[in-house]
Amino acid sequence: MQLTIEPLPDADQPVRLPEPLIFGRTFTRRMFTQKYSPERGWHDATIGPYRPFVLDPATLVFHYGQEIFEGTKAYRRPDGNVNLFRTIENARRFNRSAERLCMPPVDPEEHLEAITELVRLEHEWIPSQDGAALYIRPTMIAADVALGLTASQTYLHFIILSPVGPYFAAGLKPVAVFISEDYVRAVRGGTGDVKVGGNYAASLYVTEQVKALGYQQVLWLDAIERRYVEEVGAMNIAFVVEGSHIITPALTGSILPGITRDSVLKLAPDLGYTVSEERIDVYQLLDDIEAGKVTEAFGMGTAAVIAPVGKLGTKTREVIVNNFEAGPVARRLYQALTDIQYGRAEDPYGWTYVIKVR
Ligand SMILES: Cc1ncc(COP(=O)(O)O)c(C=O)c1O
Repeated sequence: MQLTIEPLPDADQPVRLPEPLIFGRTFTRRMFTQKYSPERGWHDATIGPYRPFVLDPATLVFHYGQEIFEGTKAYRRPDGNVNLFRTIENARRFNRSAERLCMPPVDPEEHLEAITELVRLEHEWIPSQDGAALYIRPTMIAADVALGLTASQTYLHFIILSPVGPYFAAGLKPVAVFISEDYVRAVRGGTGDVKVGGNYAASLYVTEQVKALGYQQVLWLDAIERRYVEEVGAMNIAFVVEGSHIITPALTGSILPGITRDSVLKLAPDLGYTVSEERIDVYQLLDDIEAGKVTEAFGMGTAAVIAPVGKLGTKTREVIVNNFEAGPVARRLYQALTDIQYGRAEDPYGWTYVIKVR
């Protein structure tokens, strides 16, 4: 990839991070952009100043939502260098999303190179607090100017960076999760197993409604029987049976295959837990929580890593999990995963990629 690096006009200005850092509100001073056309393929790969796009109102992405994105993070290591965590998996998922929306694939190695260069240039934006990181948001949008409903011929691929504070500033704090019985997020054969903006737009309605009821997240059920657990807003979900067996919904085709989920499935057996991917009946699950058989519930995703669930509720029932406290399995997984991500522990899985900045 021929990468042009444009000068930054205010490069000598010191980096100042706002306090507190609200997720996704602060962006670094540079961004990566690349264009696609059928004649030239991917071209004009550039790292330049972060700036708004000027787009025609008829640009396809505004009308039919042909858009995909990813989310990964860069972590500051104790030696001052920077870790990426399984970012090549994000690049592969980006391409699966692209294929599903008729968009051209990126070269995963070149995409990783773009991220690496951008993070290397912007590494001073990685906050130094414990648990903080630099969130990386690759995106691709349809760029043709036309209203006909057809796949775009031209595309824009860009990557922006946002410093983020610790998700749990005061230790792992459980979230309250509402079980959506009336609305669904995704159906098998739809786009639930890829990362497209439309999935998230469709999930807002319930999420906004249940905020007023004191819930922070929504648990989605399968769209056909409205009975089997799928996932939470932007996290996969797992449950602990009798203290040591971790179960998570099997990937059905309408669940996003999370990289954190996959990491938990690989790491947990090495910590002495058993794991299985299953079809989980939500009503049986609620009974099992009340009976003390299911001892913990937690979400898994890049943003929070592990997010303990303290309450699960429907319109007619509320079930408290583990006294609304983070349980031992969630804590241990959080510690083990973040130790690898931040380079505090050995990485026997080959998940981390070091960017040398020191
Ligand atoms: C719908 C959904 N499920 C699960 C996840 C967790 O995926 P990952 O662990 O790759 O961040 C995400 C976040 O990307 C998501 O948006």
